[in-house]
Amino acid sequence: MSDKRWAAVLGLLLLSFLYLLFEFMSSTYRNQALIRQWSEAEAGASGKPHVMLISQELDNPYWRMIEQGARDAANRLGMALEYVGPLRINPEEQTMLLEKAIAAKVDAILLQGIHSIAYTRLIDQAVAQGIPVLTVDADAPDSKRLTYVGTDNYESGRRLGEIVAEAGRAFSDRSTTKIGVLIGSNLAENQTLRLDGFRSVISRHRSLQIVDVRVSNISRVEAAQKASEMLYLHPDIAIIAGMSALDGAGILQAAKSAGRDDLLIFGFDDIEETKQAIARGEIAASVIQKPYRMGYDSVSIIHDVLEGKSAPPHHLMDTDILTKDGIRLE
Ligand code: BGC
Repeated sequence: MSDKRWAAVLGLLLLSFLYLLFEFMSSTYRNQALIRQWSEAEAGASGKPHVMLISQELDNPYWRMIEQGARDAANRLGMALEYVGPLRINPEEQTMLLEKAIAAKVDAILLQGIHSIAYTRLIDQAVAQGIPVLTVDADAPDSKRLTYVGTDNYESGRRLGEIVAEAGRAFSDRSTTKIGVLIGSNLAENQTLRLDGFRSVISRHRSLQIVDVRVSNISRVEAAQKASEMLYLHPDIAIIAGMSALDGAGILQAAKSAGRDDLLIFGFDDIEETKQAIARGEIAASVIQKPYRMGYDSVSIIHDVLEGKSAPPHHLMDTDILTKDGIRLE
């Protein structure tokens, strides 16, 4: 290569290096500024213990109920609660928010567990640095978190299986009743446990068969898309059950656009749309968790921990079943 070419190549390399250096430094600066803002605004000013709640999705109605419970407990107990989360489900961003909470040296962290080595390591790092961590809604059982606060998820999946099996009796004229399932995410332990619990019941019934399992990414729109695909691929599917809060509404939308008003739909949780669809008889039933209590109890447990009391490894909650006839309690 001629000298001129070498000079041009070297020049280009130098420019790329300077650009990368600039990007790195400005992103570090942005992060540090953000961390400073958090620490000053939340804890510094009030002098109250600073508790960070990291959700799976900021504006999800189910997570807003957890936040409400956490806020009420924090106000009662004199703690400063900060609620954060990705705008749309995004495990990498959840991990980044956890990293930032540790860097901001908050007094305690409440978070949704995810199946991820990096996330588990960060939880352990927080605990090693003396920041107590509780998992809420979904556990991270391989981490050193203090307590899991939430539903007994295997059991709740089993309960969904029982009501689906009961409903399956309506199809006794068929040799096989086909079932489709939506889960919210593969990375959330609550979803995989619910599916295991559900399968454990369905597998005991020879006439019932799970023909399709898909992930909705806890989105109503994706739930509708995935349910539509199922209805297209398995036109004789009789039942679709969803295991996260917006799945029921998404499945209903798909059933309506496919003209399948005979489809039996089962869901999870009691967001407004699900309650209304149950009242109209369009969704057969829903397994109801207690998100407000999850938030409230987790802040109360953190309060005890910060006062030097010990915490149990699990703080489990049962579920109820909502049908058109009302709530069936545990
Ligand atoms: C799950 C949460 C999830 C929510 C999504 C709930 O059933 O427990 O993990 O974030 O649904 O809508």
